[in-house]
Amino acid sequence: MKIAIYPGTFDPITNGHIDVLERAIEIFDKVIVTVARNSAKNPMFSDDERVEIIKKVVKRYGKKVEVDSFSGLLVDYAKAKHAVAIVRGLRAISDFEYEFQMALMNRKLSKGVFTLYLMPHERYTYLNSSIVREIASLGGDISNFVPKYVARRLLQKTGSKKGK
Ligand code: COA
Repeated sequence: MKIAIYPGTFDPITNGHIDVLERAIEIFDKVIVTVARNSAKNPMFSDDERVEIIKKVVKRYGKKVEVDSFSGLLVDYAKAKHAVAIVRGLRAISDFEYEFQMALMNRKLSKGVFTLYLMPHERYTYLNSSIVREIASLGGDISNFVPKYVARRLLQKTGSKKGK
């Protein structure tokens, strides 16, 4: 059974993340989407909220996708889960330097786990979670960027009338 982990802050999960996840499902028997706890990013949604939101959104993939959270080193988590790969999305060249450093460092820390980069559809190149949060909090329409349930949760959080 080939298991991969897909780590991130997911504050919140977007259609771009889901695009990457769907590509990973094609390759691995199981993908564990895992939320980084205690993120230095000071997230809008708590650790537990982000896990709960992702669970709701990925339910349709059944047993192929599991949702979890982790703290500590990613490679230790990957080993504990018997994962053969860490999946990350690569949207644009601007992602490259940070991702390159992270992949090489993770390889140094643990030789057994490799990092696999998948490119989401180009329509998501400009998308990230902060921009979605900002648009939602300013009352913009985010319906093309996140699943309906996420849009609803953002609407509750920001109190914006148009964030649906
Ligand atoms: N579609 C849309 N947006 C995407 C995306 C995609 N396919 N892929 C990434 N993004 C966005 C995210 O929304 C996020 O946006 P934001 O900065 O506005 O929140 C940004 O790109 C990158 O975030 P994410 O993919 O969530 O990664 P991260 O940098 O927040 O998380 C960890 C990185 C958690 C994987 C990393 O810090 C880690 O491994 N931490 C554990 C500690 C550790 O092991 N450290 C040593 C690492 S060498």
